[in-house]
Amino acid sequence: MQHFLFLVFILLYLIIVFGNALIVTLIIIDHHLHSPMYFLLANLSFVDLWLSSVTTPKMITDFLRENKTISFGGCMCQILFVHFVGGGEMVLLVVMAYDRYVAICKPLHYSTIMSLKRCIALVVTYWIIGFVHALSQMVVIIQLPFCGPREIDSFFCDIPLVIQLACMDSSTLGILMNGDSGVLAMTCFILLLISYTYILLTVCQHSNTAASKALSTCTAHITVVVLFFGPCIFIYVWPLSIPWVDKFLAVFYSVITPLLNPAIYSLRNKEMKNSLKRFRNYYVDPKVRF
Ligand SMILES: *[C@@H]1O[C@H](CO)[C@@H](O)[C@H](O)[C@H]1NC(C)=O
Repeated sequence: MQHFLFLVFILLYLIIVFGNALIVTLIIIDHHLHSPMYFLLANLSFVDLWLSSVTTPKMITDFLRENKTISFGGCMCQILFVHFVGGGEMVLLVVMAYDRYVAICKPLHYSTIMSLKRCIALVVTYWIIGFVHALSQMVVIIQLPFCGPREIDSFFCDIPLVIQLACMDSSTLGILMNGDSGVLAMTCFILLLISYTYILLTVCQHSNTAASKALSTCTAHITVVVLFFGPCIFIYVWPLSIPWVDKFLAVFYSVITPLLNPAIYSLRNKEMKNSLKRFRNYYVDPKVRF
């Protein structure tokens, strides 16, 4: 069973790395795709690449090990980076929704509102929010007294599991720490709901081809949002505390979401497909203009 899982996850991980790296590369080198929407898409792929790289390689090598151990520092690093990158990804999804909201609901002002400067400012913001979120949790968790049992019943270290190992009554602290992630997740989720409601209302009023194109872009976005926020909400906001469900959700948001993002965007997006075609032609005959 462990060897089978090793093969499955190493394959998934290679697809994640290859798929997301391809999207970032295409968007950076293809000047047809130099617009805020594609820059943000490249950022999402970039973030997904890191999100899965924090935990998946360790999980994969553990499948082949008898003793599945992790150092204290390693465990803290996993928590820090999962929350840094994961928190950043939540805010990035809101930024992407805002970009679509401006493009669809205020098309005439799009280029002034989403200027390159504004776009870069938004990108910097999501990194800062992710960093502050992760650091605020790290400051607390690193000071906890750890002396008792050292077993974590999951594939990687996360706050709800690690807090239970501290030699103190950690129930209130656990609620507070989950609240930290919960508030971030719920705020982003509500902002997303608001912008997609506006978008859908606008799209419904204009039933033409442009609207149907906008709708298909938004369905892709909404699918990703549901896939990413669903597990996070069940882990932090509304914990089910059923061990196998928690483990499944943890694997889901760290492996399946980064895998599905490139699939959902690049398979459905015509511009991305065209870019891939140009890229392939260029590879066969470099004289062709890319
Ligand atoms: C992220 O977005 C910014 C701002 O649009 C852009 O300059 C940058 O190249 C993007 N990052 C990646 C990895 O594509």
